[in-house]
Amino acid sequence: MNYRIAPSILSADFARLGEEVKNVIAAGCDWIHFDVMDNHYVPNLTFGPMICSALKPHAKTATGLAVPIDVHLMVQPVDALASAFAEAGADLISFHPDASGHVHRSIQVIKGKGCKAGLAFNPAEPLDVLDWVIDDIDLVVIMSVNPGFGGQSFIDSALRKIEDVRRSISASGKDIRLEVDGGIKADNIRRVADAGADTFVAGSAIFGKPDYSAVVNAMRAALKTAQV
Ligand code: DX5
Ligand code: ZN
Repeated sequence: MNYRIAPSILSADFARLGEEVKNVIAAGCDWIHFDVMDNHYVPNLTFGPMICSALKPHAKTATGLAVPIDVHLMVQPVDALASAFAEAGADLISFHPDASGHVHRSIQVIKGKGCKAGLAFNPAEPLDVLDWVIDDIDLVVIMSVNPGFGGQSFIDSALRKIEDVRRSISASGKDIRLEVDGGIKADNIRRVADAGADTFVAGSAIFGKPDYSAVVNAMRAALKTAQV
């Protein structure tokens, strides 16, 4: 399994964001997870497309390879901001289906702008819509905390949901990433991988620590022992 680690810059030092992005990339991370909160769909407010464009030039490895920016929209409505993030350099854009009046249309907006599209499911949100759009998406995000804040504890019922999504992805035969977001640490990442996840968001676990490489290496070592 080709695992990806996606640090959430929600827990980074906002006064040094460009440097923080460079540092997690130097520590071996694969994607930059960019949490967009609107103080309406979720009870918190973060950053918009201007910050995404400002960070875009920093999202590359020392040898110049682009590192994907994984935008997680926790906003309502979805479509106009999704377009703005596509123009600001996002590579993947995920939104919550319950925040969009027309899920299929929002996916088309994202794909029409040349980005990969993802659907994010809250802990108590059923997966029903997935059946009808699985042929159109590139990413499923299973929330293992309620969206809005970093540093919360992993909600165990997410594991069952990850198993369900993994089955749907396998049945679809499509190349769809299964990302898990919230409460991921080096000591639970293996359980989450065993349930079927292949992409792991981690905010406080990485940015809260003095040595980013040490955390990323511990996560990769745990993933090496995963069963899938
Ligand atoms: C929660 C965000 C997550 C969050 C993860 O609303 O979507 O990406 O930053 O943070 P940790 O890893 O600290 O749970
Ligand atoms: Zn997120």
